[in-house]
Amino acid sequence: MAAYNVVSAEAENKRLEIGVSVIRAYMDGKSCLAPIDTGRSNLRVLDSAASNGAWLSQLQASLQDPGSATLIGTDIQDRFPDPPHPGITLQIQDITEPWPESWRSSFDFVHQTLVIYQAGPKLRKVLGALTELVKPGGWIELMEPQYGFGDDGGPAYKQFGAMVNELWDLRGTKSDFASDLEPFLKDAGFVDVKTVVLSVGVGPKAKSPDIADITVQSMIGGGKNIPLAAKRIPGGFKCISSEDLETWPTRLEEELKTEGAVTKMLVVYGRKPDV
Ligand SMILES: C[S@@+](CC[C@H](N)C(=O)[O-])C[C@H]1O[C@@H](n2cnc3c(N)ncnc32)[C@H](O)[C@@H]1O
Repeated sequence: MAAYNVVSAEAENKRLEIGVSVIRAYMDGKSCLAPIDTGRSNLRVLDSAASNGAWLSQLQASLQDPGSATLIGTDIQDRFPDPPHPGITLQIQDITEPWPESWRSSFDFVHQTLVIYQAGPKLRKVLGALTELVKPGGWIELMEPQYGFGDDGGPAYKQFGAMVNELWDLRGTKSDFASDLEPFLKDAGFVDVKTVVLSVGVGPKAKSPDIADITVQSMIGGGKNIPLAAKRIPGGFKCISSEDLETWPTRLEEELKTEGAVTKMLVVYGRKPDV
């Protein structure tokens, strides 16, 4: 599979499905914060970096006329359901590569979450290409971790943040990249641009005890991909020794279950003006 480290397709899909439901809980049960008219027919929606289409399925369930909607998800890896989920088309697309020409200015809503770090120094170019897919009057919504990932938690969570930062650095991604999203959309001519910060509590810090367990599962699921990424770094991580890394997944799980942590997400959305 393409260069994105996962323990297994099944485990990755599962942890991202859980992640989508956690984020939804923190968005007061909504699939998105942009004011999309879910009562409208013939909506055309793109979810870039869609994994197995879990978010699109959630959005589809919220539409009044789902049968008339065109719902397309793209991802660099084929972890797509077989057979496909009815009404949802999933296809391979790398965010750093050109999009199909016929998709330009064609979507009522373009959604992309938790992937832009992959663009490294190409961030502005990649975002620019994504904004071109939105039709006049349509919306874009992006969600990425706020600067300081790993700060608000115990020692193992802080080590998580340090390793993620080191991986971003190796890709040429600066750690406060999410703060560029709002100015970027404004510079690109989008209007009604808003940023909402979601403070996602994990374990005992979750917003309700009902979701405490899934918030931990979601976080440790992501943590399991980290030792795989370490294997691709010549000489391993600088911020943690290999001995320490060996015990880290267990320490992280224990710490998140007992002490918890808070991770902040920036949700940024805006509308392309009508022509
Ligand atoms: C952290 S997951 C987020 C998935 C989903 N957007 C969500 O919020 O649950 C990152 C996703 O981006 C995909 N991905 C990684 N690099 C990519 C790239 N260069 N182009 C497109 N998708 C990519 C991965 O396969 C994975 O499904």
